[in-house]
Amino acid sequence: MTSCAKIIKEFLTSGKKLRRRWAPRQGSGACSAGFAHCEGRGAHLLRRLFEPDNMNEIISRLYKRKSVRVYADKQISSKDKTTIIDCAIQAPSAGNLSLYSIIDITDEKIKKALSISCDNQPFIEKAPMLLLFAADYKKLYDVIQSKFPNVRKPDIGDLFLAYTDAVIAAQNAVVAADALGIGSCYIGDILENYETVKELLNLKKYTMPAALVCFGYPSEGQLKRAKPIRTPRDYIISKNTYEETPVSTTLKMLEEKHSDNAENIIKSVNTRKFSAPFALEMSASVKKWIQNWLSD
Ligand SMILES: Cc1cc2nc3c(=O)[nH]c(=O)nc-3n(C[C@H](O)[C@H](O)[C@H](O)COP(=O)(O)O)c2cc1C
Repeated sequence: MTSCAKIIKEFLTSGKKLRRRWAPRQGSGACSAGFAHCEGRGAHLLRRLFEPDNMNEIISRLYKRKSVRVYADKQISSKDKTTIIDCAIQAPSAGNLSLYSIIDITDEKIKKALSISCDNQPFIEKAPMLLLFAADYKKLYDVIQSKFPNVRKPDIGDLFLAYTDAVIAAQNAVVAADALGIGSCYIGDILENYETVKELLNLKKYTMPAALVCFGYPSEGQLKRAKPIRTPRDYIISKNTYEETPVSTTLKMLEEKHSDNAENIIKSVNTRKFSAPFALEMSASVKKWIQNWLSD
């Protein structure tokens, strides 16, 4: 491991501030003082990790938050749970209509069933707190329809808006939990196995699961685990209009990000993610959620 990689690892696990002398020179690919060997990967990692002058507690926590999948044997107090849920509700919401519902899943049987239906991830069952954020147009539509019986039905645009509301609320909960020292992990696999999830959680027409999130205090091991490296900013941002990225640029970025050769990375992403059976099941299930929403 290079010195820079060591510093990055220490920084991610210590909670300390990265010292200014480790910052890369402005606009240069190399890091300063003593880190000339850090052209390329080391330099851009440091650039992303260096705490800027406008760092504060919230920004620092956003940098350091990472998913937590192993939990300490410590319950989340009802006070903290309420705070996390209240912070979710403080999130921006389209038209301030709160087009989502939060299901607090405490039933052990449901937790176990979800840990199986969500691509067999046993830590879901072990999470001290499990919240489902569901897109929900049902509550509002029921009321509108009661006053205007011939009104149109919720359409795909309404689903997208409600889905966005639900995910934004979920992220507020994640950030609030982190501020209380409580870890979390999203479970994208909640989008799989339409029939099972719908029945388990009694989800109705004009609702759809958007985010399942596990919460719990991190185990010692999770506290020490390094946060996965992020995609470089330059690769993500463009000015004013969408910028097409040459395949060669993406390959180079992936090689830097994962310290592996591009062929292995793409093979692994395709086998384990993009073309994996879970991804195909997920797409089939999402089509069913949408068909159910749009059906007469
Ligand atoms: C929409 C979404 C779905 C995810 N689904 C899962 C999941 O099913 N299982 C899991 O272990 N992590 C899941 N994650 C967590 C990601 O793997 C994690 O955020 C990513 O690897 C970056 O790591 P970090 O959160 O520790 O920084 C999900 C994250 C998001 C945003």
